[in-house]
Amino acid sequence: MDKFIIEGSHKLKGTVYISGSKNAALPILASALLNEKPIVIKNVPKLKDVFTTIKLLQEMGCKCNFTDNLKIDCSSVKSTKAPYELVKTMRASILVLGPLLARFKHACVSMPGGCAIGVRPVNLHIEALKNMGAQITIEDGYIKAQADKLKGTDIYLDLPTVTGTENIMMAAALAKGCTTIKNAAKEPEIVNLAEALNKMGAHIEGAGESIIKIEGVDHLHESSDISIMSDRIEAGTFMCMALATGSSIDIKHAPTCAMDAVRDKFLEANGVIKKVDDKTIKVWGENIKPINIKTMAYPGFPTDMQAQFVSMLTRASGVSIVEETIFENRFQHVAELKRMGADITLSGNKAIIKGVDKLTGAPVMATDLRASASLVIAALSAYGTTNISRIYHLDRGYEQLDVKLSNLGAKIRRVKE
Ligand code: EPZ
Repeated sequence: MDKFIIEGSHKLKGTVYISGSKNAALPILASALLNEKPIVIKNVPKLKDVFTTIKLLQEMGCKCNFTDNLKIDCSSVKSTKAPYELVKTMRASILVLGPLLARFKHACVSMPGGCAIGVRPVNLHIEALKNMGAQITIEDGYIKAQADKLKGTDIYLDLPTVTGTENIMMAAALAKGCTTIKNAAKEPEIVNLAEALNKMGAHIEGAGESIIKIEGVDHLHESSDISIMSDRIEAGTFMCMALATGSSIDIKHAPTCAMDAVRDKFLEANGVIKKVDDKTIKVWGENIKPINIKTMAYPGFPTDMQAQFVSMLTRASGVSIVEETIFENRFQHVAELKRMGADITLSGNKAIIKGVDKLTGAPVMATDLRASASLVIAALSAYGTTNISRIYHLDRGYEQLDVKLSNLGAKIRRVKE
């Protein structure tokens, strides 16, 4: 296992290039299962979760060739099983359920267990597929599903689940008739998936709104024009790094049109953003101001940015309150930040953060993907050296973060534990 050794209190400078979005790539890779023709996908990030998804597709019989672009050919799928050994390492494997059922009429997908941040149920995925005519049982830890032909229908989601919306959209793409998803999740990654599916010949309207309509088709066709959107969470993470270290950096390819809530909270915390050109923003700031945050479904403030803002606010000039409303256990970074001198009190689903003058380096442990990023932010601004262990959590969702940070002048080393 790798760890990061970071020597803090160095300013960042220069330009960072944002990679393709993990949360856009994973559903689009899964959607290849719907298509008997090959697709080519551009701007796919080289991340651990992407490689896990490719491995899962290959184990089913798909051919994948990942060079600059990713070519996936699912013309000769031999298995519709997603085994526990792979699913336990990546919950998003649930995204193969809808496509497998829609095209092959059966699927056997390991129940994705919980993870560090919460129980992460998939009941809404299962209920929706049952409403489309699937017979689904849970046996031996597996979701066993079959359907002669999924039927389009109206589906109301009790919660705007992101991967639930994506699973249903993919299943409906090949169902008989029209499906309407009500109370759909509106994340930009869902729009990216709908664009990709429509380029393959699907008929999807309304992605990004709370009502999405999908007219099922018999087959999809090849496409080499699919591209992954830039990662809004990676871009937001670098914005927090700039403000936390009092630096000024240029960020290339930040999807600013998908970052309103993060931008507004960054500005409120005394950050500054200037558009340099169509593909570049300059961000800087110091003297962090305390702010209050409440995580919400899109377009609200994203839960995936909560840990990074908590880390930055540990050195604000006052008290901030951060409320986590999406996941029940997403404050595991707090205990590690307190080891570095942060003054944070947890009360229910709220973190009360009293700004301190400085953090000091310490040995800390990453517990989940975004918690890892928050520890990197703290380490960059702390006095002294910080060792962050279990950095494999971070590699799931950030492409070469240590290389990108070194290019910005950070003193960071990746070493074997
Ligand atoms: C997606 O997870 C993202 N993952 C998460 O990003 C992100 O935090 C989350 O959406 C919220 O924005 C991917 O896109 C691969 P949800 P997902 O279903 O789809 C409850 C990261 O760091 N729920 O929208 O699993 C659930 O418990 C990761 O990149 C049910 O109750 O999240 C949660 O409270 C972490 N039943 C809420 O809905 C269900 O069937 C939102 O979960 C499904 C969800």
